[in-house]
Amino acid sequence: MKTEERTYFIRTFGCQMNEHDSERLAGMLEAEGYMPASGAEDATVVLFNTCCIRENADTRLYGNLGHVKSIKDRQPGKKIVVAGCLAQKDRSLIQEKAPYVDVVLGTHNLSSLPRLLREADEAPSFEILEQTETFPSALPTKRNSPWHAWVSISIGCNNSCTFCIVPAVRGREESRRMGDIVHEVESLVSDGVVEVTLLGQNVNSYGRDLDGTPMFSKLLYALNDVAGLKRVRFTSPHPKDFRADSVRAMAECEVVCEHIHLPVQSGSDRLLKRMKRAYTQERYLEKVRMVRRAIPEVAITTDIIVGFPGETEADFEQTLAVVAEVRFDGAYTFQYSPRPMTAAAGMADHLPKEVVQERYDRLLELQEEIGVERNARHLGATEELLVEGSSRKDPERLTGRTRTNKLVHFPNDGSAEGTFRSVKITATRPHYLEGEVTVQGAATAAPRSRLSLPLMAAASSGCSTCS
Ligand code: 5AD
Ligand code: SF4
Repeated sequence: MKTEERTYFIRTFGCQMNEHDSERLAGMLEAEGYMPASGAEDATVVLFNTCCIRENADTRLYGNLGHVKSIKDRQPGKKIVVAGCLAQKDRSLIQEKAPYVDVVLGTHNLSSLPRLLREADEAPSFEILEQTETFPSALPTKRNSPWHAWVSISIGCNNSCTFCIVPAVRGREESRRMGDIVHEVESLVSDGVVEVTLLGQNVNSYGRDLDGTPMFSKLLYALNDVAGLKRVRFTSPHPKDFRADSVRAMAECEVVCEHIHLPVQSGSDRLLKRMKRAYTQERYLEKVRMVRRAIPEVAITTDIIVGFPGETEADFEQTLAVVAEVRFDGAYTFQYSPRPMTAAAGMADHLPKEVVQERYDRLLELQEEIGVERNARHLGATEELLVEGSSRKDPERLTGRTRTNKLVHFPNDGSAEGTFRSVKITATRPHYLEGEVTVQGAATAAPRSRLSLPLMAAASSGCSTCS
């Protein structure tokens, strides 16, 4: 590392929102003249953008900090920054546990990074705010992909799921103005972006804080009219707020991909109540039926927590029953992890680790079987792929994603990243598909026909009590 160079390396933990924030942190550093470094060893600034959603995220951060400290001992000019959710949660504890950290900043003040780094020339600097100062989307950005962009539509969360620390570290929900989002997407498209992923803790309540009613479906229609945009994804909707208007917009908007990530968390009504999820198993299943009626080819993925306090064998069997009935294309499965500042942490009946592990293994086994079956449905089909680049394991192959978000490997025919290819699926595996290109040359993203959806009126009746 040459001392006169100013370089940075960012390690991001956690969700897509953190990926998005890291692109803004990188953008600000580059605007200040920093250049990207290939690793922590070579960088004058090493930044950890942190997550605290589960306990192992905390443990990993402190392990990583210890490693960078040993590098810093050899390179005294190096600065270590801890940003994001864990910084917001642990505050001054970070500097108590790791006094060699130079800058700590929370989730609400990413824009302070350049100033805090300058202040850290004199002494370690620390700033945690309680409210968002500048919407991260207003900051400069250094995108990781020329053809894909994260677009934040709201930040924070007004729900109070009893297991979840997010509201405590990300604050109240704040939506961006629709015009600003559309404008950002238009300028991304003019920059070469063909796919955007809309981000929010609860995308379906987007806009409620702006004019009293959620406007997510309106946003989808507005984005559908952006010329040159080929794909829109979003994460995550909350089942209680996912209503017929959003399903209709998904079905009617050609750009919106046929995939929805709809976190169920548990199949037991008793636990859903203890989790404060504001839906029952039956209401969740109604939403699944509603989206499948409107978009039969839709892929549905979910999040599931195993071992929430008080979970009985009967509760867990209800979760298995939902998984068996819905037949998810994929599930992120988590063992419950008590988090500070959450109601569930104070509940009685935390489960022994062995019980949780045993249930977790059973859930995984069931979901694996279902994943195989769901992927097998694609065998022989011709799919539109957005090419993502070389396969990590085998440079002879390229990878791309279907509109349903399935990863497909296919022989490297020289297709460029960010272009569309039409691929016939020749083999299916538990976690990916294999295919061969059927059309040479740049396939254009095939628009879906606009649907008309008389069925939605009946389907919407189950949603009336959602908060
Ligand atoms: N323990 C385990 N999993 C959790 N999640 C959120 N909080 C916890 C926790 N305390 C999971 C939920 C959420 C996903 C992002 O992380 O399933 O949807
Ligand atoms: Fe957490 Fe629930 Fe908000 Fe999602 S909706 S971020 S799980 S509190």
